[in-house]
Amino acid sequence: MIGIFDSGIGGLTVVKALMEHLYGYDIIYLGDTARSPYGTKSPETVKKYALENTEFLLSKGAKIVVIACNTASSVATEIVAENFDVPIFEVITPAVELSIKTSHKQCIGIIGTRATVKSCIYEKKIKEINPQARVYSKSCPLLVPLVEEGWLNKPETKMIVKKYLHSLKVRQIDTLILGCTHYPLLNDIIQKKIGKRVSIIDSSIAVASNVKTFLEKHWELDDMLGKKSRYTFFVSDVTEQFEKTATSMLKRNINLEHVKI
Ligand code: DGL
Repeated sequence: MIGIFDSGIGGLTVVKALMEHLYGYDIIYLGDTARSPYGTKSPETVKKYALENTEFLLSKGAKIVVIACNTASSVATEIVAENFDVPIFEVITPAVELSIKTSHKQCIGIIGTRATVKSCIYEKKIKEINPQARVYSKSCPLLVPLVEEGWLNKPETKMIVKKYLHSLKVRQIDTLILGCTHYPLLNDIIQKKIGKRVSIIDSSIAVASNVKTFLEKHWELDDMLGKKSRYTFFVSDVTEQFEKTATSMLKRNINLEHVKI
């Protein structure tokens, strides 16, 4: 099965994209809700959590692991890949590659948590491919709690999104990477506020398509993955709000199983 982890339930946006791109593949998900948010924590702490989460998924039989969390992808991919002998996917590289293909002016904006923006990982990876690209980032720390509260269409949310995007809008970016698991849920508002000419890159879709391409080339590994549409969802802390949000995100009834990491 495919193992996926995130700091919470935001990574279900990646599960949804995987369900669409890799129809029927068994998926095991871990949302580390007890220790979330990761976006405000130090790289050392996030690395430790990422190692523990990966170990848990492998102990449950995952054969590949997708780090759905942008913050963990930013700071912990290397250490996870060094410590475990299975393919590890992260959400940064696929979004970077897609943004470079999409952007006409090579003028790219990124929004993410404070930890992701501070890591400068998106800039580094974009500049590795195109040193001439202009890259602008903005951390948007209020968006995660707004999404988790289900404030997807509130006027306050629209106002905050507008304020956050202002500095990217004046730079006249033509492509915007949603560098956080939660932001695809605000896609419509973000598109309206940044302007319809700006292409939005959803890292959940980008990583799902990368995993699909990888498995098409690695059929031995693909054969080892169950394909009976079995979906298992673990969280390190269960709350009613999470169960509600998870059910509405995936549009199916979700039972969150509790696990102590
Ligand atoms: N999953 C995190 C990310 O994509 C957002 C939530 C958090 O801060 O833990 O960066």
